[in-house]
Amino acid sequence: MLSKTIEAALNKQIRIEAESSQAYLAMAIWAEVKGLEGISNFMYDQSDEERTHMLKLVKFVNERGGHAHVSELNAPNVTFESYKSMFETLLEHEIFVSESINDLVHIALQEKDYATHNFLQWYVAEQIEEEATARTILDKVKMIGDDKGGLYLFDRDIQQLTVSSAAETPED
Ligand SMILES: [Fe+2]
Ligand SMILES: [Fe+2]
Repeated sequence: MLSKTIEAALNKQIRIEAESSQAYLAMAIWAEVKGLEGISNFMYDQSDEERTHMLKLVKFVNERGGHAHVSELNAPNVTFESYKSMFETLLEHEIFVSESINDLVHIALQEKDYATHNFLQWYVAEQIEEEATARTILDKVKMIGDDKGGLYLFDRDIQQLTVSSAAETPED
């Protein structure tokens, strides 16, 4: 059984994952409108992934006798100065999410809720990867600079840039 404190903290994370999904959907749409098809597809996939992160939390809360919350979401940024600034926003957002997961882990330990603590380890590993992917992408973007040919190749190949490990398939 979840304590009220843990339930509230997990519900806060459900909202953050939902907002992440919306934020990345907005990025996908922006890139699509700009004709950056590869970047757009990549961001649509990221948006879907954030929804699976949210659902995994929803199931966990409900299975442990809590009640997962669907709440009002903050509206995401829908336009960006450049694709570079879009990816900077992506990295900043992932760092914010990692901090939020860290806070959750801290609360789980304070509450002596070792089942939740164990469950959260998947998110800890996932955030390491997501931050690494965002940094890898941003490094490439900085390398490309204003080179149009570079952008063309980057847009074509971005799907291969994800940093993958065992934590990437949230099937269970
Ligand atoms: Fe996430
Ligand atoms: Fe993420």
